[in-house]
Amino acid sequence: MNCKLTVSTEKVISKIDKRLYGSFIEHLGRAVYGGIYEPTHSTADKDGFREDVKELIRDMQVPIIRYPGGNFVSGYNWEDGTGDKSKRPKRMELAWMTIETNEVGIDEFQDWAKQTGSEVMMAVNLGTRGPEEARNLVEYCNSTTPTYYADMRRKNGFEEPFGIKLWCLGNEMDGPWQICHKTAEEYARIACETAKVMKWVDDSIELVACGSSGKDMPTFGIWEETVLRECYEHIDYLSLHSYYGNRDNDTADFLASSMDMNAFINRVVGICDKIQAEKKSDKQINLSFDEWNVWFHSNEQDKEIPKWTIAPHQLEDVYNLEDALVVGTLLITLLKHSDRVKIACLAQLVNVIAPIMTEENGKVWKQTIFYPYYHAMRYGQGTALDVVCDCESYSTAKHSDIPYVEAIATINEKEDELTVFAVNRSMKDSCPLSLSLDKEVSFLEHLVVTGDDVKAVNSAEEEKITESKRNDGDDIVLPPLSWNVIRFKLV
Ligand code: AHR
Repeated sequence: MNCKLTVSTEKVISKIDKRLYGSFIEHLGRAVYGGIYEPTHSTADKDGFREDVKELIRDMQVPIIRYPGGNFVSGYNWEDGTGDKSKRPKRMELAWMTIETNEVGIDEFQDWAKQTGSEVMMAVNLGTRGPEEARNLVEYCNSTTPTYYADMRRKNGFEEPFGIKLWCLGNEMDGPWQICHKTAEEYARIACETAKVMKWVDDSIELVACGSSGKDMPTFGIWEETVLRECYEHIDYLSLHSYYGNRDNDTADFLASSMDMNAFINRVVGICDKIQAEKKSDKQINLSFDEWNVWFHSNEQDKEIPKWTIAPHQLEDVYNLEDALVVGTLLITLLKHSDRVKIACLAQLVNVIAPIMTEENGKVWKQTIFYPYYHAMRYGQGTALDVVCDCESYSTAKHSDIPYVEAIATINEKEDELTVFAVNRSMKDSCPLSLSLDKEVSFLEHLVVTGDDVKAVNSAEEEKITESKRNDGDDIVLPPLSWNVIRFKLV
């Protein structure tokens, strides 16, 4: 097997919005409590946040982090997480059936995010609450007026506004599991009115309306059309969510998950453009894929978690090599659609279906999926280039014409670098890569994530799946079951 990859620097898909590499921290499981925040940890800062976790996230340069949910946000009173910590209420948290202590809230989180160099993408509660609480939160976060909520922020010790620019109008409101789930019409109305008042408080913010929480939702399509027809001129992005899993233990098929993501994006783009035409509008709605990942390993064990505990081990998927390869192909797919997908969030960042795991009073360690995410974020900046990937393909019961090699190229004009990202899906064959480039380049390095055991996982004790370097610049080979980052300097 071999692959001929033709890269032309003239074939531009789009400038890559750096928010394509966002992530997500929800008040769920040990993401916040026991994840980023552990006051008794040896590295805890004066506010109780772990310095070791902060340092890793700072080093990754995660551009934007969605907060505080997720399903959690649909029952959340944002005021609970502000001001004097000793007065904050403990609440029954109905999304995940736990106790929320509110030790961490928007006051602390935005401060923490500033320290990690990440922007906050804030979600408002359109489940139990509505426009009033949402516009108050915008005032609290962003306003400089001498008015109640801006003053409340000042009283809480924050003279300067937080300056939060990107906001989600609720979360997965199409899902019956959502606290105060809504029909498309109900959601479209409340999202529209909430969008208006939020932008009246701060017209510099951008808004993401809920699309479907999966392309197999029964309301998919109708939901998007209804929401767009009602909210078109008041919103900036429409969201997509999708999780993938190898439930049938069929690796060849699981490795084709990115084809489902690709189809999902194409259909939502089609709907956005149809409504644009219908409205005869000059405005284009772009996409925010603000929850995506592999999620299935922890489903069964999560059913055993007793109700009303604080920060239980919840959604703690332990990822293996095949999961990392799927994450790699999903990142490539997002890049291929970077003309329309401007924001995407790997869900989530710490402990909960996450690339980063923490031990209580112990270390922080990297899951297998950390590597493709980190590499794409670090080396996939600048402009995405369309490539022609000529290789063999295979079929499974659910997917046909799956190319063995999935690839994309990016050019970073600031660094004068060109990077090829490629996944070899073949389970047995190495794949020599013949690269045809229209620019003179010199080889920098070839980073590879691979292994003999597709089910191998990392742990606090041992990181079996990590990156290695190959010096095969003149003769690049993609090993079977591998994620590859091939970096060149433009000469
Ligand atoms: O990321 C975990 C959960 O998945 C989120 O809370 C929800 O939005 C989605 O269903």
